[in-house]
Amino acid sequence: MSVVLDKQVNDFIATKRRLFIDGAWVDAASGKTFDTPNPATGETLATVAEGDAEDIDRAVRAARRAFEDGPWGRMTPSERGRIIWRIGDLILEHLEELAELETLDNGKPLSVARVADVPLAADLFHYMAGWATKIEGNTISLSMPGFDFHSYTLREPVGVVGQIIPWNFPLLMAAWKLGPALATGNCVILKPAEQTPLSALRLAELMAEAGLPAGVVNVVTGFGETAGAALAAHNDVDKVAFTGSTEVGRLIVHAAAGNLKKVTLELGGKSPNIVFDDADPDAAVQGAANAIFFNHGQCCVAGSRLYIQADRFDDVVSGVAEVARSIKLGDGMEPDTQMGPLVSDEQLRRVTGYLDAGRGDGATAVVGGARHGERSYFVEPTVLTGTRPDMSVVREEIFGPVVVAAPFQSLDDIARVANDTPYGLGAGIWTRDISKAHALAKKLRAGTVWINCYNVFDAALPFGGYKESGWGREMGHEVLEAYTEVKAVTVQL
Ligand code: NAI
Ligand code: MG
Repeated sequence: MSVVLDKQVNDFIATKRRLFIDGAWVDAASGKTFDTPNPATGETLATVAEGDAEDIDRAVRAARRAFEDGPWGRMTPSERGRIIWRIGDLILEHLEELAELETLDNGKPLSVARVADVPLAADLFHYMAGWATKIEGNTISLSMPGFDFHSYTLREPVGVVGQIIPWNFPLLMAAWKLGPALATGNCVILKPAEQTPLSALRLAELMAEAGLPAGVVNVVTGFGETAGAALAAHNDVDKVAFTGSTEVGRLIVHAAAGNLKKVTLELGGKSPNIVFDDADPDAAVQGAANAIFFNHGQCCVAGSRLYIQADRFDDVVSGVAEVARSIKLGDGMEPDTQMGPLVSDEQLRRVTGYLDAGRGDGATAVVGGARHGERSYFVEPTVLTGTRPDMSVVREEIFGPVVVAAPFQSLDDIARVANDTPYGLGAGIWTRDISKAHALAKKLRAGTVWINCYNVFDAALPFGGYKESGWGREMGHEVLEAYTEVKAVTVQL
């Protein structure tokens, strides 16, 4: 391996990691642990505590105490904001270390973790720190004749929040969830994905260092079916925020029904990326490739359905195929690696299963189409053509570096085809005709539309899904609504 591991990363990995509850590191009540491997090598990176229902309950009680009686609720918004800002600073101070942890645990290239995952996580905390002092209500004029009232609203924290996150951007997803929860004064139990628990544990240490009081954020590592399910069902949790599969999203909704906790969901996608014949050719090809191959296609918003206006179909497909062929696969720690392995054997089987299904249904792989090598979980960047709209590779989220490409004729055709999906997360449009771009953007049933760009994320931009892609929005000021209750107060004068 050509990169020398940062000493801090080694030290962190060497320490047996435990659950972070009430400001202290504790073993799981059961004493159980599980291993988290490096997907590039299959070697165990670290052994972490396997929390389950009992640990979740302990963490919920700690969060409740911190919410009701702890210093957090008595702090001024400005004090809270300064702590959140400091978390962002500490992430930047530990950028290299966190990027290495992310690469080792998830498999993504270090070069990507350095410029995307870690700085965006820091930026999210910095952005949300500013909101802590700007949570406001309104004054409201009432219309009851003959009386005089003074009415106003208060925006208050929801309370104790359970947050369940996936493995594709482990630190960044933790930041998306924690930043707004803290800015609005909530207390949290965070359950990272079992595939990638390490950066959230390191973040817990950094948050304590930033001055976050004990119990405000608790991190319980463990499996979805046990720890995650217990968190979603817990009767003293006021809200659950989830990012992951649509299938588990449905389970979360059912689990939340017991105490009718508030639910926000950021789920799967099958996002259309649409190239018109007047698009800048190079930008469209690079953009289409980036939309699906970034993070190995393990993005909820991956541009996995590429629609190209008929005249340009062959050029764009061969351009994207050329990019696919040039991508260097390898261990994410190697400096020249552009695409690492998928996160796990389970994901490898899932993605290659879709490739087999596509082939069986009659699709053609213009490039790729199979596993890469015998070792680890690499999949060749793949472009499929000759698909029909009813094929599973066209309808279902593959979550790998696999794009289906199909031609279209006109704007009206493509709006209908693009929206022919149960999902509604993202969409891309490539054209030099600005009014065509806006006209189509309006017709698309998706929470994010990118025009002549793709995968542009910013803490200030609301992100989330229409239809089965989820409930609510993350980031922007929109997310603050999901973490606050509104209280209307009326005084008769
Ligand atoms: P998943 O939805 O099972 O896991 C995401 C998180 O949910 C993890 O923290 C997991 O421990 C937790 N979880 C699992 N079952 C749970 C339950 N019954 N109750 C509460 N929490 C539970 O996703 P998985 O299995 O890792 O990946 C499967 C597919 O899901 C992927 O192929 C992809 O299509 C999709 N996915 C979508 C993501 C997105 O960003 N929208 C992220 C990860 C996966
Ligand atoms: Mg699962």
